[in-house]
Amino acid sequence: MRLRTNLVFTLIGSLPLAVSASEVLSFEQGNELMREKMCLGCHQVEKKRVGPAFVDIANRYGGDREAALPMLVNSIKNGGRGKWGAVPMPAQTQVSDEQAYDMALFILSLQQKPE
Ligand code: HEC
Repeated sequence: MRLRTNLVFTLIGSLPLAVSASEVLSFEQGNELMREKMCLGCHQVEKKRVGPAFVDIANRYGGDREAALPMLVNSIKNGGRGKWGAVPMPAQTQVSDEQAYDMALFILSLQQKPE
């Protein structure tokens, strides 16, 4: 846990270059974690469901990952409202800090390059 936290702070310190595939969960790992933690009941990767598509979240915040990472960790753990529509997201108390970091990094990694 401690090691992991340090890793994330190292990552933040050297962004944007440091967010490379090796530190981020693979698509399969990310998807599996989201499934286990019941995110997929409300979110899909590419389509809006109850909540916004992960790709849309990445595209909205991916321009400044340094600011986005802690903000998304907070949104995942504590939920949120009013940023995407009328429906609020409840706090996800089943998610640890470490898992929330992994999820936020994973979501940001889904940012699509401009055409
Ligand atoms: C009950 C439905 C529901 C569940 C379960 C859910 N979400 Fe959400 N999520 C939402 C909604 C609705 C929003 C949009 C809230 C808003 O408009 O601010 C959202 C927004 C988000 C955002 C964007 C936050 C922001 O600051 O813009 C992220 C990231 C996110 N969810 C990740 C997750 C993850 C990861 C999980 C699983 C641990 C999860 N969500 C579980 C409904 C859900």
